[in-house]
Amino acid sequence: MITVRAPATSANLGSGFDVFGVALDRPADYVTVERAETTTLEIEGYGSEYIPTDPAKNTAGVVARELDAPAHITIEKGVRPSSGLGSSAASAAAAAVALNELHDCGLTKEELVRVAAKGEAAVSGEAHADNVAPAILGGFTIVRDDGVTSIPTDVSLVACLPEIVVSTRDARRVVPDSVAIEDLVDTVGSAATLTAGFQQDDPVLVGRGMREHVVTPARAALIDGYARAVDYAKKAGATGATISGSGPSVLAVCYPGRQREVASALIDGFNEEGVDARAYQSGVGTGAEIL
Ligand code: HSE
Repeated sequence: MITVRAPATSANLGSGFDVFGVALDRPADYVTVERAETTTLEIEGYGSEYIPTDPAKNTAGVVARELDAPAHITIEKGVRPSSGLGSSAASAAAAAVALNELHDCGLTKEELVRVAAKGEAAVSGEAHADNVAPAILGGFTIVRDDGVTSIPTDVSLVACLPEIVVSTRDARRVVPDSVAIEDLVDTVGSAATLTAGFQQDDPVLVGRGMREHVVTPARAALIDGYARAVDYAKKAGATGATISGSGPSVLAVCYPGRQREVASALIDGFNEEGVDARAYQSGVGTGAEIL
């Protein structure tokens, strides 16, 4: 029997739509696997009632099929589904690492990223490795067709989850089909700034590098309370804030020691718009680990 913990993750980071991701150090999913003739699933925890237990429709079940590694899989959800915090990716990543170990598959972490992304694709319809990459590799990650780069980093983060649901389908539908060249130039500048910020553990550069004027505003309109929450977070000392993944969560970056104030400000911003919210004060996580 093997148990793996895989963390919540935040994709996009504003300027890196479908490219950037970062591992949080909390919350997390826990996946336990035991050898079996056929794959079966048991799911408990936060939002587990919304997750299918049919292995063909579950990210972890699809990972077991891809690895030809049948098992009884128990998932303890700590990451709420449809949160924008990589919930299905956490389960897929933990299952991939656990089953690779249980069945001695011998895959590298980079290969497991591809397997876990297939698990995500089977359930969500589109293969984005921008959540499974940081969930497995940890740190700040850059995903491209030709490979994945992971940069270890130490930056203080706050993720705030409002009690609303934004479907990934809706969040992708509002993404514009094209961008003006000046927006492209601005986004490239932001992406480079953000990458340098993570390399240098610099919250000011990371915050500045989250600026993006194409995808983020289109999606922000779907999140009640987003504008006020971000405004309050910046007044409380956040160096930047943006939508986490496809939303509705918000990811803020700040100086060490400012997380408590920023977390309270984000919650207040949502609350004042009539939306309940919870916040996770987090560092950058290390990725999936066998316990
Ligand atoms: N990059 C993806 C998106 C993350 O923003 O739609 C969710 O899979």
